[in-house]
Amino acid sequence: MQDTQQQAENQSLPEDNALAMDAKTIRELGYRIVDMITDDLTHPTRRPVFPPAQTREAMESVFGGPVPRGGMDADDLLTIIRDQLLPAAGNPNHPRMMAYVLSASTPLTGLIEALVSSIKLRPTTWKNQPASCQIEVTAARWLGDVVGFSDNAAGYMTTGGSWANLVALAVARVRRAGWDVRSEGVAQRPVLTAYVSSEAHSCIDRSAELLGMGAAQLRKIPVDSGFRIDLDVLESAIQADIRAGCKPFCLIGNAGTVNTGAIDPLDHLADIAQRHDVWFHVDGAYGALARLAPEARPLFKGLERADSLTLDPHKWLNTPFEAACILTRAWRDLGDTFSLIPPYLRGAMGSEHNQYEYGFELSRTDRALKVWLALRQYGVDRYAELIANHLALARYLAARLDAAADFELVTPVVLSICCFRYVPPDLTPGTPAVEIYLNTLNHALEMALAADGRALVSGTELNGARVLRACIVSHPVTRTSVDETLALLQQLGRQLDRDMRGQLA
Ligand SMILES: Cc1ncc(COP(=O)(O)O)c(C=O)c1O
Repeated sequence: MQDTQQQAENQSLPEDNALAMDAKTIRELGYRIVDMITDDLTHPTRRPVFPPAQTREAMESVFGGPVPRGGMDADDLLTIIRDQLLPAAGNPNHPRMMAYVLSASTPLTGLIEALVSSIKLRPTTWKNQPASCQIEVTAARWLGDVVGFSDNAAGYMTTGGSWANLVALAVARVRRAGWDVRSEGVAQRPVLTAYVSSEAHSCIDRSAELLGMGAAQLRKIPVDSGFRIDLDVLESAIQADIRAGCKPFCLIGNAGTVNTGAIDPLDHLADIAQRHDVWFHVDGAYGALARLAPEARPLFKGLERADSLTLDPHKWLNTPFEAACILTRAWRDLGDTFSLIPPYLRGAMGSEHNQYEYGFELSRTDRALKVWLALRQYGVDRYAELIANHLALARYLAARLDAAADFELVTPVVLSICCFRYVPPDLTPGTPAVEIYLNTLNHALEMALAADGRALVSGTELNGARVLRACIVSHPVTRTSVDETLALLQQLGRQLDRDMRGQLA
């Protein structure tokens, strides 16, 4: 015993914290980071909207290499971030960013992330982090309220809409399978089937795969000319599955598809879900926040009847990633799906509200604070105004495209997505040869715009045609930036058409 004590005393243990830093250095580093952020936010066009192409070797030479044995000066590291990382990063703060569903972060919500990370705010247990738990509960309630889902929603912040949709399917299965899926699993049981339109986001397919349902059991229902789910086909598909001995458990409605912004007839979907006693989930990752704009409200009729809802504040609320959430009507929907408290955590839990029990993760950053801050700082009316402006801007872009001799508006604008293509004035679409040429031309135009770096839209495919797609959800986008983007697309489109026809000749 004495020997052991002697040995312990003889060991040289550090008195200093090996990773510590003095207050002056911390402040100076912080100021440098804040300077970088401020420069970027106040000169939003200094960096291109899409980064210049980089070779793997170039990136490897800066960010690769062997594991560093020794350290490096923090100031020098920040210089690498400023001079090497930022130029190789896309620029969502750019006023001509209209690709994907990507928005700038508001300054305060961006800045607060440094604090959240530095002090590791985490909404796990009430005892540990009562404020973060309360903020997440409040953010979920506010979000559910503003989109008309419920004024008392339960909710859990996820990394993104993808994860929220996965959680929704997991909850739906626990609630509607009809047996104890958590303990018994799904083997030797009726095949579980879920239903969504063919325009659903790909994360729904991946959720079905991950949950062991198999993507084939996610029935992809065709859409009508407005890219909304075909209700008759849906009804027939459910009935056919029931006849075949399957167990339909979930119906997913789109409140704004990623391709066109189409909104399924949610009220009718709610009727169908009710009739067949299946869970009704709505994917509102992109679109549901548009319900803040009074003019868009009627489009979402039926949302208030959903059992669960996916929302992505990191899109239209313009917060940083990762701010998405799954909302349900009752906390037990989430709790019955996830709650499992191991012995080593029992002491930390207590009887209060622990967000840990309502989701899968244990260690998890505070994702709700930025949502709470955004809504506190601007208030919901300011967001309603922002979103209404975006809807108006999309209609304005559509009108300009309609009036232009060399563009074709491919679908009517529902929310803030505009799908269109460049069609040289002397070509008449419709014949296979022209369609093939237009597909190649529009794909090339999408690439050329990205390479140009002064504006960005993305592309997609609709009814077999390659189209361009502008999605306006970001606060720096204005009428001027829409005009400039269109002018640039026109200029690049003309040039490409000339070059491509020259090569064909
Ligand atoms: C309708 C819809 N659902 C889900 C997602 C996935 O969301 P996230 O990118 O936050 O994972 C998106 C993304 O654009 C979307 O538009």
